[in-house]
Amino acid sequence: MKRKTTCHTKQTTGGTKQTTGIRKAKQAILYMLLISLLTLCLSACTGTEIEVEVPEWPILGFSQLGDESEWRTASTNDIKRAAASARIQLMFDNALQQQFNQIKAIRAFILRGVDVIAFCPIVEEGWDDVLEEARAARIPVIVVDREIETEREGLYTAFIGSDFHREGVKAGEWMVERFAEIDGPIRIAEIRGTPDSSPTIGRHDGLREVLEDNPKFEVVISIAGDFMRSKGRECMETILQETPDIDILYAHNDDMALGAIEIMEENGIIPGTDIIIVSVDAQISGIEALMQGKINCLIECSPYVGDDLMALVYKIINGEPFPVYTFTETRVFTEEDDFSILPVRPDYRP
Ligand code: AHR
Repeated sequence: MKRKTTCHTKQTTGGTKQTTGIRKAKQAILYMLLISLLTLCLSACTGTEIEVEVPEWPILGFSQLGDESEWRTASTNDIKRAAASARIQLMFDNALQQQFNQIKAIRAFILRGVDVIAFCPIVEEGWDDVLEEARAARIPVIVVDREIETEREGLYTAFIGSDFHREGVKAGEWMVERFAEIDGPIRIAEIRGTPDSSPTIGRHDGLREVLEDNPKFEVVISIAGDFMRSKGRECMETILQETPDIDILYAHNDDMALGAIEIMEENGIIPGTDIIIVSVDAQISGIEALMQGKINCLIECSPYVGDDLMALVYKIINGEPFPVYTFTETRVFTEEDDFSILPVRPDYRP
């Protein structure tokens, strides 16, 4: 994409405020600085107006829902990296776990007239009005990571993220296989994610779908932990108080599983042995816990959609064909795996 600019003594290089230090971004900035410098010199020397072409980066307004988990940190970092690498100017907003902050951010992107809006919806419902506003402003919207629920057609242009129902099914299937030789009842404690969010709904329902055909399993307690490690601790304390006699802990993400593991260890329970642990995400701390035998099964949920998202942005603005739905892979990593082939994740821990 190019923009024609008439130069006097000062040149505006719109859309170049990327601060991420990756090589491609640096090269592009350097390129534009050189053009500006040359233009300034020529203008100053000749006193004439010079027309030059400077590259203009498309603007993507991106509303991230918060920073509740290791997964979320990975998602934010991956999207920032991918935007800089693809020469897309990112207007980033962190909604700090509040839907109204996300709605406010999307409205700000509309006012700013960004080329494309993307957002990770914290909950499934309540987006119709703001998405109608984006549609009225003719700004395409990409839903990232979590899905939304709406009766209206065409409120968003594309979706890119994970199949949470499939994750719940895979968790259930692994439990059935792991306990195949053991008589019931098999008692499961579930720590759910954020209420009304699509990963919570999908992971909950997916598990139930498998357990319906396997009545020896029983979910004896199910409580919400908001995808946070600290809440995982609180939930495990409640579980130990209310239903200590459990065989399996099913946590909707690694962070909550890790919080629960801390409480188990503080109470003399051996995680992965006394209680079998299944969790979702497979980020770096989860993989470490699997290798230490503290988690028995990890269902993968990949936050690394940045490059695909940026490719989608270009296809949409260039009017090229694009996939409306893109789902990430869902691998299952278990205690029985050859650990040398487990995925290596970037470490964003502080
Ligand atoms: O939406 C994806 C989920 O949100 C991840 O499983 C969890 O870790 C995150 O907070």
